[in-house]
Amino acid sequence: PLPEPFGVPLPIPPVLEPVRTDESTDYYEITQRAAKREILPGLTTEIWGYNGIFPGPTLVTRRGRRAVVRQRNELPVPVAVHLHGGVTPEEHDGYPIDVILPVGGWQPDPAHAGHPLGVTSQDEREYVYPLDQPACTLWYHDHRMDFTGPQVYRGLAGFHLVRDDIEDALPLPRGERDVPLMICDRTFAEDGSFAYPSIDPSLGGVPGVPVDLMDGVLGDVNLVNGAPWPYLEVSNTRYRFRILNAANARRYRLQLDPRPAEGPSFVQVGSDVGLLGAPIAHDQIEIASAERFDVVIDFAAYPVGTEVTLVNAYGVETTRPIMRFHVVREEPDDTRIPERLVEFETLDRADATVERDFRFANDRVDGVRMWTINGLPFDPERIDADPALGAVEIWRLRTNVHHPVHLHMAHFQVLTRNGRAPGPYDAGWKDTVDLAGGEEAEIIVRFDGFQGRYVFHCHNLEHEDMMMMANFRVR
Ligand code: C2O
Ligand code: CU
Repeated sequence: PLPEPFGVPLPIPPVLEPVRTDESTDYYEITQRAAKREILPGLTTEIWGYNGIFPGPTLVTRRGRRAVVRQRNELPVPVAVHLHGGVTPEEHDGYPIDVILPVGGWQPDPAHAGHPLGVTSQDEREYVYPLDQPACTLWYHDHRMDFTGPQVYRGLAGFHLVRDDIEDALPLPRGERDVPLMICDRTFAEDGSFAYPSIDPSLGGVPGVPVDLMDGVLGDVNLVNGAPWPYLEVSNTRYRFRILNAANARRYRLQLDPRPAEGPSFVQVGSDVGLLGAPIAHDQIEIASAERFDVVIDFAAYPVGTEVTLVNAYGVETTRPIMRFHVVREEPDDTRIPERLVEFETLDRADATVERDFRFANDRVDGVRMWTINGLPFDPERIDADPALGAVEIWRLRTNVHHPVHLHMAHFQVLTRNGRAPGPYDAGWKDTVDLAGGEEAEIIVRFDGFQGRYVFHCHNLEHEDMMMMANFRVR
């Protein structure tokens, strides 16, 4: 039996302190390991966590300061770490076959022996992140080819916040009122373990999930920062929430219940990879896997004593509630949401020099049903786009069913959706665009940052593991 919701306080992942710093760089160390945690009261769950916790520790760095993260792999399988939304050189981007092999060695199951390996390292590896990019909410997670779904499901995900002087100068809520919320869903087995339907639970042999689950793995418990339907005590002031959908496959429609009597439920100030030019008021927010919405909720709209529930309007029964805010006290509030946030550069169709088309669908390849891009399954050797460094391109994305499409390294803006103006949740600089079945979007992408080979893929992790991924190479 599942516990009553709203019984546990919202955990805040600890901020990771660097082990040392110098003029240009902060150095961090993380060990990936298994640990036993009490997630559902009275039950023990084995998680795989960065430093043994789920979510992993939050990294907080400043624009232009390099972060060097030494990752040690004490898990029984290979791992690859990707900083999602980071503008990162290719060798540090966590390419799906550039893995860290486990301490103590690793023997792949013969069933998986044909699996390619890229640049591997043994025991540990240093990831170098220049982070010369505007303040934003990034996250890091596992990205091992074919096994990202089960490895993230076990807990390999954490926040990485980038700050800068422009953000610091804004009068937005900060400190304890700047709260990361990692939302995801999980199913637990009777004994408390995570129930992920891997074909091979050792994660060494045949990848993927049974064909009837290839649409994506959904859970019946909503976790926020790793806790089931938690609560947070708040004052009657503005809070900034950096909302991340870290679910493998679930898409959320976020609403407040009750809605405020006056004013919007959410004021969005940032998107995936940066602050907006101007805030946007929303009564609800749709968020797909990997997207981030940086929002302010003003609890002054509620009398002290009110309980406000964050719900998923797409959910039923246990998947509807997400967490609850208890407005417990009055407090002065000197924050505000300015009408202008940052200088925002809108990309223009005329800036684009190349157009490309990508169709995200489900095909039979050699008799096996899998998820494909332009009819082809992922192949690390094949390059499907070769933008020039600094070029702006328009990519037309078409889907059969719901796919949140993510590009590594290159950020973009949504130009059109189904031939019309972008939707209410498309604003700002994005690294992931959420497309419903049958939709078509044009995104305008700027390939600055670094040359090299990067992946783009569906961020439904079961689709990704079942081959819905391809490469572009910035030349
Ligand atoms: Cu969030 Cu390719 O990943
Ligand atoms: Cu998909």
